[in-house]
Amino acid sequence: MADGFFFDTVILGAGAAGMMCAAHAASRGGRVMLIDHAKAAGEKIRISGGGRCNFTNLNTAPRNFLSNNPHFCKSALKRYTQADFIALVERYKIAYHEKTLGQLFCDGSSKQIVEMLLEEMRRNAVELRLSTRISAVDHEGDAFRLVLEHEGREMGVRCANLVIATGGKSIPKMGATGFGYQLAEKFGLAVLETRAALVPLTFGTDFLERYRPLAGVAVDARISCGKTTFEEAMLFTHRGLSGPSILQISSYWRETTPIRIDMLPSTDVFRQLKARKQSEPKKAVATILGDIVPKRLGNLLCDEHALNRPIGETGDKALQKLADAVHRWEVKPVGTEGYRTAEVTLGGVGTNGLDSRTMEAKTVPGLYFIGEVVDVTGWLGGYNFQWAWSSGWAAGNAI
Ligand code: FDA
Repeated sequence: MADGFFFDTVILGAGAAGMMCAAHAASRGGRVMLIDHAKAAGEKIRISGGGRCNFTNLNTAPRNFLSNNPHFCKSALKRYTQADFIALVERYKIAYHEKTLGQLFCDGSSKQIVEMLLEEMRRNAVELRLSTRISAVDHEGDAFRLVLEHEGREMGVRCANLVIATGGKSIPKMGATGFGYQLAEKFGLAVLETRAALVPLTFGTDFLERYRPLAGVAVDARISCGKTTFEEAMLFTHRGLSGPSILQISSYWRETTPIRIDMLPSTDVFRQLKARKQSEPKKAVATILGDIVPKRLGNLLCDEHALNRPIGETGDKALQKLADAVHRWEVKPVGTEGYRTAEVTLGGVGTNGLDSRTMEAKTVPGLYFIGEVVDVTGWLGGYNFQWAWSSGWAAGNAI
């Protein structure tokens, strides 16, 4: 086995956080190696945002993140901000636009963001090793010692700083592993329970039978779980409910908890029904409700409430019940679609063990954790990439 290669810094995981950290650490001097078992770097960036990468959010603030310690993300987010990343994107002349709610997407392709980060690494002479398996990681004195395997050949590498940027568990078929959590535990750091987040919720057979005719119907909904509320699109699917508002609330939902859904928060449905009862008494309730909410939803709700008659013959109490079905729908998901489709992983390496300015482990000098592997999880909307850039930069700046 070839041995004795020495790098100032070795980073495990060539995703968003790892590439940002590698480029920034190398720009400050020192030899940097970035390792990934995948064939290409930044694969999640490539597939993100429907191929256009929602690379940050104009409104990024600590309140957009979930963590056991909600203060932990503040320092990194403040020192490398959304404005800093936007400036980098503009330096590379990558055209972008705001889609909605401060979410910035490339006009062209997410590959431009991957290429930008690769160029930043090339300019700073980062050594990128892809298709490389990490078979051992140990700490010897002041250095870390790794055994790597590439095309059947083993190689030993030593480094003063080791950065873990191996991400979470979501989308295992793209190379996600729990490797970062195992390493954290090996070095004595606490790992908080992980769960799939930003993920569609699933429902029991009763629900699916009942709402199957609505598959494909979308509404602008207000969805609440406990004290948390999101107002974004919701989509009925063959497997249950999805769409941005459902993905958002999935990060807050826990088994056995109901979620409350207002399928038309912008309109008082009862008032509209009453007004139409006066002006068009002969029209069927379903026809009128179908003018207010999507037709298929209107039909299904009227069937469920046995309101298959003209609105003029329908009492206000029944109309109020119908309006409540739109505004006050309470459902109990049975689960989530899990890591197979989740955008992120909640939980992970406990922030109590890390320095929030540098991401360095408090008990193991030279060991850093950045990006999604850390117990910091953003909302949907570009926040997770911003955390990857900010935490990657913070570690790169400290090395
Ligand atoms: P990331 O997962 O990017 O990188 C980890 C790297 O480590 C991978 O390259 C992996 O191959 C490597 N690795 C893992 N185990 C290893 C091992 N044992 N040995 C070697 N290498 C190993 N966020 C956002 O802000 N805007 C968006 O538009 C989207 N869109 C989106 C779409 C989809 C489909 C998904 C799944 C996720 C998103 N996200 C997102 C979330 C975002 O992709 C995610 O939060 C970041 O990529 C996290 O960056 P990291 O660098 O921490 O991990």
